[in-house]
Amino acid sequence: MGLREVQASVCGLNGLRVGFVGLGHNGIAHAKAHRRVGKSVVQALCDRNATRLAEAGRELGVTRLYEGDEIYSDPTVDAISIHTGDPFHVEPFLKALEHGKHVLVEKPVANSIEQLRQMADAARQADRRLKIQCGYVLRFDAVFEAVQELCRKGMIGRIFYMEADYIHNLHYQKDRADPTTGRNWYLEEEQPIVGGGSHELDLLRWFSGREVVETTGYANHVAFPEMRHDDLQVALFRFDDGAVAKVAAAYGPMTARPPYANLVLYGTRGTVKDDSVAIASGPHNAHPAFRPIGGPRTKGHPFEPEIADWLAAIAEDRPTRCGFFDGANSTAATLVAVEAIAQRRPLPVPVFTPHS
Ligand SMILES: NC(=O)c1ccc[n+]([C@@H]2O[C@H](COP(=O)([O-])OP(=O)(O)OC[C@H]3O[C@@H](n4cnc5c(N)ncnc54)[C@H](O)[C@@H]3O)[C@@H](O)[C@H]2O)c1
Repeated sequence: MGLREVQASVCGLNGLRVGFVGLGHNGIAHAKAHRRVGKSVVQALCDRNATRLAEAGRELGVTRLYEGDEIYSDPTVDAISIHTGDPFHVEPFLKALEHGKHVLVEKPVANSIEQLRQMADAARQADRRLKIQCGYVLRFDAVFEAVQELCRKGMIGRIFYMEADYIHNLHYQKDRADPTTGRNWYLEEEQPIVGGGSHELDLLRWFSGREVVETTGYANHVAFPEMRHDDLQVALFRFDDGAVAKVAAAYGPMTARPPYANLVLYGTRGTVKDDSVAIASGPHNAHPAFRPIGGPRTKGHPFEPEIADWLAAIAEDRPTRCGFFDGANSTAATLVAVEAIAQRRPLPVPVFTPHS
């Protein structure tokens, strides 16, 4: 089926036929969310772990099951949704684009700048009608959508300082070793500012509409010693318009997740704090009152609107909300933050674009 027919089938009754690669909790959750959205077909499944693949096939009632790479050349699959562990997104991404499939890739987009460069080259060479959605799902939370609209309309003025944190007790990840390899990518490879904190940095990039040009930070390894890397990473980011942001990512705290990611945005006209905004009526209105923004926060992960946006982008041949270069830049700045923390000095951040 050519790209035009794929677009037509998404618009019509058939629905886009999606293949899912990586069937852990996140891959299964996405496949089920596709069913709830109801505009696509869960066509095929792929996992290197044969037991997990068979279980997922039974759970989802899918018979096209692949342990290897045949899913990418399956002509009945129009799009690939990638849910492998963080270090393993690059290979499925390159193969999917090589075979002319639309792609949804989970965050962080990759776990090294070199992987991002390879993926960026592939994205630049791919047919522009192939739509890529990156899994920075907080962009689809109702409150954060309302915050972004406020910022886009200039309601809080020029943003000069931002904060947002990924604070999440992830000790349960200790028990999630891959049964095929016996390895646990979470304990061995995860960098909290990349795996978690890039969600918040992505929000701050989206709210400000600016790119990060430099980063530095600090870290420690106290609260989750089973992790190979630091379990607390705090990074500062300097944006291309001079704005400064702080993102903290902690995987070992004994606390529930803070609501609204501890979000604070300071602008020249107003301030956003969590789900509230205070906008000054004029220069003498020094302490304007806070009022709630938008409706209640979306419960859980808003995978459904993220998926619906991807499917609509394919059908309408328009950009996704978090396209490849957007997602890559949110990931890249946090990958450089890890290096800056290790080198104990600020480092420049590369900006990926469709042209360079
Ligand atoms: N957007 C979000 O809010 C959100 C939430 C949770 C997880 N995630 C992301 O989703 C991804 C998956 O997370 P998870 O917890 O389900 O991981 P997981 O490790 O439990 O599952 C990953 C699966 O991928 C399979 N796999 C690995 N490499 C493969 C390959 N090359 N081909 C086929 N299968 C392969 C593994 O066998 C495993 O079954 C991660 O990148 C994670 O960060 C995102």
